[in-house]
Amino acid sequence: MLRTIFYKVFPMKQSILIILSALILVSCSEEKKRYSIRLFSPSHKTSISFLLSPGGTPGYCVQYKDQIIVDSSSLGFELKETAPIKSDFEMIGNHLDSLNENWEQPWGEQRIVNNHYNELTVNLREKIEPHRLMNLIFRSYDDGVAFRYEFPDQEAMREMTILEENTKFRLKEDYTCWWAPGDWDITEHLYTNSLLSKIDATKKRNQPSLGQTYIPDNAVNTPLTMRSKDGLHISIHEAALVNYSDMTLKVDTANLQLQSSLVGSDRLGYKAKVQVPFKTPWRMILLSPNAAGLVDSRMILNLNEPSKVKDVSWFKPMKYTGIWWEMHLGKSSWDMASGKHGATTANAKKYIDFTAKNGLGGVLVEGWNTGWEHWIGFDDREGVFDFVTPYADYNLEEVVQYAHSKGVEIIMHHETSSAPQTYEKQLDKAYALMKRLGLHTVKTGYVGKILPKGEYHHGQWMINHYQKVIETAAKYQIAVDAHEPIKGTGLQRTWPNFVSREGMRGQEFNAWSSDGGNPPDHLPNVVFTRMLSGPFDFTPGVFNIKLKPYKDKNQVSTTLAQQLALYVVIYSPVQMACDLIENYEGQPGFQFIRDVGTDWESSKTLAGEVGDFVTIVRQEKKTGNWFLGSITDENARDISVDFSFLPKGIEFTADVYKDGANAHWDSNPTSLQIDHVKINSTTKLDFHLAPGGGLAIAIKK
Ligand code: NOJ
Ligand code: CA
Repeated sequence: MLRTIFYKVFPMKQSILIILSALILVSCSEEKKRYSIRLFSPSHKTSISFLLSPGGTPGYCVQYKDQIIVDSSSLGFELKETAPIKSDFEMIGNHLDSLNENWEQPWGEQRIVNNHYNELTVNLREKIEPHRLMNLIFRSYDDGVAFRYEFPDQEAMREMTILEENTKFRLKEDYTCWWAPGDWDITEHLYTNSLLSKIDATKKRNQPSLGQTYIPDNAVNTPLTMRSKDGLHISIHEAALVNYSDMTLKVDTANLQLQSSLVGSDRLGYKAKVQVPFKTPWRMILLSPNAAGLVDSRMILNLNEPSKVKDVSWFKPMKYTGIWWEMHLGKSSWDMASGKHGATTANAKKYIDFTAKNGLGGVLVEGWNTGWEHWIGFDDREGVFDFVTPYADYNLEEVVQYAHSKGVEIIMHHETSSAPQTYEKQLDKAYALMKRLGLHTVKTGYVGKILPKGEYHHGQWMINHYQKVIETAAKYQIAVDAHEPIKGTGLQRTWPNFVSREGMRGQEFNAWSSDGGNPPDHLPNVVFTRMLSGPFDFTPGVFNIKLKPYKDKNQVSTTLAQQLALYVVIYSPVQMACDLIENYEGQPGFQFIRDVGTDWESSKTLAGEVGDFVTIVRQEKKTGNWFLGSITDENARDISVDFSFLPKGIEFTADVYKDGANAHWDSNPTSLQIDHVKINSTTKLDFHLAPGGGLAIAIKK
C-alpha cells in the first residue's frame, strides 16, 4: 500500500529505475510493527530507512549493504513551553529526489567534488492538537547517510525553545570506538580507543593544561569514529551547524546507544531557540569498508550549501611563518610589559625576510596589539583587547608595507580572550583597518571562559558569534583561521573564507602541556577523527624536536621526517612552518617545506588504520607535482608504496625524506635521510617508518 502512495507523489521527471531502487521494504528489527521506507544510495551500498511506529513516533535505521549498522532509533525534541515532539505523527506526504553533479572548490583537498545522492523528504503532522508539522529529510550517498529535521512555516508553532534534541543512535554492535570526551568549551582532548560499552568520558575530565571543561554526562564529542567486527568503519558527526547548538553524544554503555545531547546555556536556560521555519544541522553517518574511505569522503561538504561568497580571488592558500612559537617556548612574550616583547617591528622584518627568501607566503604576528597584559587569568576581560591599536614598539603600517614590498602577506591576529561582545563591537573597525592595509587573513582566538558567564564555546549563542565573524569577514574580503573554534561542519563550502581552524590539540601542546604533550599516536588518531570535520591549523614543522634550550620538560613526540610528512597528511589551506626561523637555517629537510603544495587538484588516502598509521598522496593544482606523506604511531612500520597513482608514461624525480638509521621519536628524532630517485607509474618502493616516524616525498616532473 505504501508503494502506491509513493508512485502517486513521485515527480514525473524521476525515472522508474530510481524509484524501484530507492524504495524497498526494510528489514531492521521490529520492522514488521512499523511503516517504513528504505532509501538506497545510488549504487545501493548504503541505505537509510524512515520508520513510523504504530504510536506515531518517527524513527530511522541505517544499513550498509545488508548489515544493520544503526538499528531502529527514535527521533524527537523536548521543548520548553509546549509538549515534546515525540509521537502521534502521521505521514501526510513525501517526496523523492536525487542529484548527481560535480562542483568546484576554490581551494581544498580536491578541486572537483562529486555530489551524488538520493533524497527522501517525509512530511509529518501530529494527529492531535496543535497538529504541528515536521519534515524529515533523508539522504543516502555511497559513502554514508544523513538526515535532518525541518519545521516548515506553520500557525501551530512560530518558535521553538529546545531543551533537548532526542535523536537516538541504537548501535547494532559493541563497536570499537575512537572517542574524545564531550565538552561544551573545547575539543582539545586526546582520543581514547575502547569498546563503546567501555566509554567513560567523565574519567577524562580535567586533563592537565586544559583551560576549561564542562561535561555534564558520559558524553563524547563528534566526530566519533567506530569500527565493527567485520571492519566496517563508521563515523558520526554533523554538517551545516548554523544557528543551533553543537551536538555531543550521550553514551548508554549498557544498551549500546548514543543520544544527541546539545550544548546548553546556563544563562538562557535552554539549549537552542529558533524561529520557524527552521532546519537542524544534518546528522551524518559515514560508512566505509576501510579507514581510508572515511578520510576521502567529501559528504560533509556535499551536505552544505554552495558558496555565498562570489569573489574569493583575494585569498590564495599559503605556507606561513610567524612570531608565535617563540611565545609558546617562553623565548618572548605576547605582552610588552614583560620586557621581552616578540612582536616588534625589527623582529617582524626578520621573519618577513626569511619568508620572502624561502618563497613562503605569509607571516603571522601575534602580540602586536594592546591588551595582552590583561589576558589569561583575568575575569574582567571586556573592553581590554584593542584590535586596531598596535604596541608602541610595533609599527603596523611600516611592517605591512615592508612585507608587501617583498611579496609577503601579514596574517592579522585577533585574540578575543573569549570576550566576543568586545570583539563584535570592534569588528567593522578592525576589518576596515585590514582592508585599508590590504590584509586578507586573520587568525582569531578564544582562550578562556566565555563572557557573559554561563555561555559556552559550543552553544548556540557562540555559534552565532562565530558565524557573524565569518559573514562580516567575507564582506571585507577576509579569510578566517579560528583557534578555540566551534568544530568544523563543512561550512567552508558555503563560506570559503572560513579557511581553517584549530579545534584539536595542536603543536602548541608540545611546548607547554604538563601531560607530556601530544603522544606519538595523536596524529594517527586525529586523521581519522578530528580531521573528518575539515581543515586543521595544526602548525607542523618543528625541527628543534627537543625544544632546547627553552623547555626542559617538553618535546615534540615525532621524528623530523614526520614533521615534514604532516604538510601532506594534514589538510589546511594555511600551513605554518612554525619553528623559530633560526632552526631552519642550514637544514636540508627544509627544502621539503619550500616545495610542498597547499592547494590540491586531488587527494587520495593510499592506506591507513585508525590510530596506527596513514599514507596520503596529493597532487598540487598549480604545478601538477605530487606529494606523499606517511606517518606512524609509536610503532615502527614497513610500508610499501605503489606509485600507480601517477600518470602513465611520464618519468618523475622523487625527493624522498625518510627516517634515518636508528631514528626514533624520543631517542633519535632528527635522524633524516634524503634520497633522490627516478620513478614512474610502475614503480613500487618499500620504506621503513621509525617509531613516531614518517615519510615525505616530493614528486616532480
Ligand atoms: C591559543 C592559540 O591556539 C594559539 O595558537 C595562540 O598563540 C594563543 N591562543 C594566543 O592567541
Ligand atoms: Ca595505535
